[in-house]
Amino acid sequence: MTHAEHPGPVVHAPAAPGRLPLLGHAIPLWRQPIAFLESLREHGDIVRLDIGTWPVHVLTSPDHVHAVLVQQAQQFGRGRIFERLRPMFGNGIVTTDGDFHRKQRRMVQPAFHRNHIAGYAEVMGRAAEAMCASWTPGREVSMLTETRRYALSSVAEMTFSGGLSGAAIAEVHRSLPIVLEGMLLRVVMPKSLDRLPIPPNRRFDTAAARLRRVIDRMIAQYGAEQEDRHDLLSLLLSSVDAETGATMSAEQVRDEVIAIMFAGTETPATTLAWIFHELGRHPQVEKRLHAEVDAVVGPRPVRPDDLPRLTYTNNVFQEALRLHSPLLFTRRSLEPLTLGGVSIPAGAELAYSPYALHRDPALFRDPTAFDPDRWQEDGEEKPRPHRFIPFGAGQHKCIGDAFAVAEILTAVATVASRWKLVPAPGVTVRELPAGIPQPSELPMIPVSRH
Ligand code: HEM
Repeated sequence: MTHAEHPGPVVHAPAAPGRLPLLGHAIPLWRQPIAFLESLREHGDIVRLDIGTWPVHVLTSPDHVHAVLVQQAQQFGRGRIFERLRPMFGNGIVTTDGDFHRKQRRMVQPAFHRNHIAGYAEVMGRAAEAMCASWTPGREVSMLTETRRYALSSVAEMTFSGGLSGAAIAEVHRSLPIVLEGMLLRVVMPKSLDRLPIPPNRRFDTAAARLRRVIDRMIAQYGAEQEDRHDLLSLLLSSVDAETGATMSAEQVRDEVIAIMFAGTETPATTLAWIFHELGRHPQVEKRLHAEVDAVVGPRPVRPDDLPRLTYTNNVFQEALRLHSPLLFTRRSLEPLTLGGVSIPAGAELAYSPYALHRDPALFRDPTAFDPDRWQEDGEEKPRPHRFIPFGAGQHKCIGDAFAVAEILTAVATVASRWKLVPAPGVTVRELPAGIPQPSELPMIPVSRH
């Protein structure tokens, strides 16, 4: 029996409690979006949520999520969140679906091949060294700012290498944060407001246009040079579709670069920030991680071949990723179907929340506890597929997952080999709702380990 089949009668998804006419569930979503999303699991495996008049079927069971993302993926398109992004991000792999997405994914995938990750990890190593070198013992730093800068440098320098790229990299540092910030507002705002000449729209449009311009300029320059720089832009420009023999147009390459920068900056920066936060709160975990980094890396810079040997550090990363996962992604049904006995009409929005799944007490023992040992070789989580999906699954699974692992392990190991980061006293770090929930602030004090 597939997950779409169900022995009982077909029913409509139950609505989450507290729905109001016109507003739907806007009030609990506005007040406490994270807690509200988490509470949905109490009402069923598929629960209807109304964001204003926009109905969304939220999948709260890992089997249904697996059915939609993997087993029956061809019956679903991208859904609203991604469609709202398309006017700014064009037709890169993040926003498209169907045959076009499959073709583009084939063309972009080689740039994320394992063979290239080691090269990118060297760039990341240099960025992490620069971050560590900029700190002074005892002087407080904002780890939110530091991890964002590091993630931006990693993605910008992976994209454009070489001496002439300085201006492009600086532009990414300037414009991308504005675009990322404005984007969340666009997703929830009605489309009709996009063109209003209000300051947030103007700032967003200017930053998006600058970003597009600088990428276009780099593409023109790379085209004129005809030189392989072994960076993402060179790889995308030279990628050939195995089926058609075609290369991508300059415009398509630009859309893919923007898609990758957009998808690949905030998530690793936030995950890294949470790792440093959790280490600061769990001295025993920090001690074991320091011991591992000292044994594997020692005083020299971190090398790409160190990363597979940092097993405990990797468990810490998995656990931070579990507790602090992305909040919500959408899909849209392309035809009417039933899922777990619930009828879903054509054109319905569906959503899944890695965050809520990863904190479900029916799926994870003591789910709010930070316990990296659950990920060790003989730990309880190793043999359980489908329920841990921080990178999604199926045809839209994160293309940058191996990149993110290298980026995060390199930063954690580089910092740990030199510094202990102590939480600034008197600060309560809260979790703020966002595409991937953010720490409200993260002031920490670097203390030299040597
Ligand atoms: C801890 C870090 C990261 C997390 C948790 C994460 C999570 C995800 C998730 C859950 C999806 C699937 C969304 C869906 O089902 O619709 C996704 C897609 C994607 N991610 Fe990541 N990501 C991370 C890092 C990165 C990095 C570093 C890059 C690039 C350098 C990247 C690029 C992308 C792209 C391009 C997609 C769209 C793939 C497609 O639709 O074919 N991500 N990511």
